[in-house]
Amino acid sequence: NKIVLAYSGGLDTSVILRWLQETYQCEVVTFTADIGQGEELAPARAKAEMLGVKQIYMDDLREEFVRDFVFPMFRANAVYEGVYLLGTSIARPLIAKRLIEIANETGADAVSHGATGKGNDQVRFELSCYALKPEIKVIAPWRTWDLNSRTKLLEYAEAHQIPIARDKRGEAPYSTDANLLHISYEGKALEDPWVEADEDMYTRSVDPRKAPDEPEYVEIEFEKGDPIAVNGVALSPANLLAKLNELGGKHGIGRLDLVENRFVGMKSRGIYETPGGTLLLAAHRGIESITLDRGAAHLKDELMARYAELIYFGFWYSPEREMLQALIDKSQEFVGGTVRLKLFKGTASVVGRKSPRSLYRQDYVTFEADQVYNQQDAEGFIKLNALRLRLAALGRK
Ligand code: ARG
Ligand code: SIN
Repeated sequence: NKIVLAYSGGLDTSVILRWLQETYQCEVVTFTADIGQGEELAPARAKAEMLGVKQIYMDDLREEFVRDFVFPMFRANAVYEGVYLLGTSIARPLIAKRLIEIANETGADAVSHGATGKGNDQVRFELSCYALKPEIKVIAPWRTWDLNSRTKLLEYAEAHQIPIARDKRGEAPYSTDANLLHISYEGKALEDPWVEADEDMYTRSVDPRKAPDEPEYVEIEFEKGDPIAVNGVALSPANLLAKLNELGGKHGIGRLDLVENRFVGMKSRGIYETPGGTLLLAAHRGIESITLDRGAAHLKDELMARYAELIYFGFWYSPEREMLQALIDKSQEFVGGTVRLKLFKGTASVVGRKSPRSLYRQDYVTFEADQVYNQQDAEGFIKLNALRLRLAALGRK
């Protein structure tokens, strides 16, 4: 009877909106979120109105996004396949959550989204929706309609007077997804993994060659594993990430060109810009290096790959993600203090760290004479650790 559509205002979801109205002859409610994608919401509203939508939802979710999704994920230092900071993956559960809330508020029995049948996003949206409202109906037009190519999509848009945005050069744009954490690019020339991206594709970071010739220092302060201040200024989660994006972008930091494994089984090539997230990951690892016990740190690192995979695959609202989150959050109890980063031409290096809860003890580690550590203890420590190695070697003789 009623469908809530995750509506960006872009070409794909505008076509979907029209198509849903025609195909199901029912009311479509649109939902557009500001999660820091850096686009005005007003045009999306205007387009939805033009397409006859009566209930238009527009929400600023930036603080919630960073506080309840990005920061918890960064407590784990989560990266997928060694490098991807999960910028798109982590935003989907929040959009799904709001879609379901709006379905409940408006009495809609279905939700719809513009993800294709080939990607990760469909899985993330739908797993999240089903986890939050088991009886919800999901409509994924890309999987059902006969507009199975971009060309057909464009023809449909023209026939229905839906405006088509072009990029600077008058071409159809890359497939992108943007929020406060990152922007992604896929498709077009990037589909050949041998081809390097054009410099003018990038929007959130300068070419590292054109970054300032002098390094810049940034201090990030943490409390319980979350960043709370930059250069001594306390900032809200969204403002803090925006500040780090500005600093990282200015120094050409956070670009990534990657061939990754999608959940559905295929490999895909994507390019990402995550300037603030790249600073945050380095700084968080820096503060953990002095505040986390070794056993805690290594266990957490082992579980990180699994945790990142859960988020990439779309299992944010799963018991196992929540179990891991509880473990990760517990580890962050004393992860507080300040990290100093040096930003220079595409790199962010940790060059200083301090904490009131530091486990680092200069009196123990010093190369100078010390009063606290007995070097003779190390002999037995090594001998017993060597015992089985020696027995194995003797056995081989
Ligand atoms: N490949 C990345 C991921 O799976 C980015 C996906 C971008 N999504 C999009 N609708 N353009 O997380
Ligand atoms: C899509 O297929 O809609 C975008 C790419 C992805 O979800 O992995």
